[in-house]
Amino acid sequence: MLVTTVFELRNVLNEVKKTSKNIGFVPTMGALHTGHLRLIHRASEENDLVVVSIFVNPTQFNNKEDLLHYPRTIEKDLALLKENCSNYLVFNPEINEIYPSDEQFKSIDLGHLDEVLEAKFRPGHFKGVVHVVHNLFHLVKPEKAYFGQKDFQQLAIIRYMTKAYGFPIDIVACDTLREPSGLAMSSRNMRLSEEQKVEALIIWETLKFIEANKSNLNPKDLKNRANDFFDKGSLKLEYLEIVHVENLLEAEDWAEPTVCCIAAYCGEVRLIDNLLL
Ligand code: PAJ
Repeated sequence: MLVTTVFELRNVLNEVKKTSKNIGFVPTMGALHTGHLRLIHRASEENDLVVVSIFVNPTQFNNKEDLLHYPRTIEKDLALLKENCSNYLVFNPEINEIYPSDEQFKSIDLGHLDEVLEAKFRPGHFKGVVHVVHNLFHLVKPEKAYFGQKDFQQLAIIRYMTKAYGFPIDIVACDTLREPSGLAMSSRNMRLSEEQKVEALIIWETLKFIEANKSNLNPKDLKNRANDFFDKGSLKLEYLEIVHVENLLEAEDWAEPTVCCIAAYCGEVRLIDNLLL
């Protein structure tokens, strides 16, 4: 089932809630791929109804070109959902449904979570993500919401904002789904040529290099070696950081739970990936 307005969404969800059914929520920007489907399958198994939102959120794009080129494939998305899920509702709103002119949104301070990694290179991005997810949580009121580890910092920020706003929602983290080659699935991969998909593998290879050399070097030295390794490929590195999984600050030693996060350009396409170490 597809709804496009808040009015329709409220009506359907009110009916669903009358029978005390559980709602799982998967927010997306569409151009659905198998990575999204993994979240939707899990939500479908754990809830009576899955609400999948498809909304390319303009407020989280700090780069106009990126927003312009973001793939929009709604007909394909709807067909894919029909094939893969039985208990779902798609919410595909226009911008004024999500951001009504009279809305009363109070932003929160994300502290250093909004200063490191992605935030350094995409100013305003996470403020936009928090705003849209806040408004969607408010409309859908799910019991559980599903997010991918692929966007590691986004997940950390969503956990933080869920607590800060007091939403009674369980945030469920799902593993990153990869192509057999290791390339993390992403809507942005649609913009890569076959050749570029091979070149982009340097990201996954560098993450595996770090994992393999963890016992030989401290995080700082390994980061330097990994930079050299990455430079053998043809991508333009934006950042490669080994950080603590919760506070996202640079890791000093391996006693801490750490994650390596990489962002790089393959041609015009910005790719991100990470690996828990
Ligand atoms: P989007 O990039 O469409 O991603 C929707 C969800 O799918 C996110 O939680 C993301 O982490 C997850 N995902 C993407 N690729 C994945 C993969 N290969 N394996 C597992 N999960 C994957 O993230 C967003 O949209 C937006 O920022 C959003 C949260 C919808 C707010 O606008």
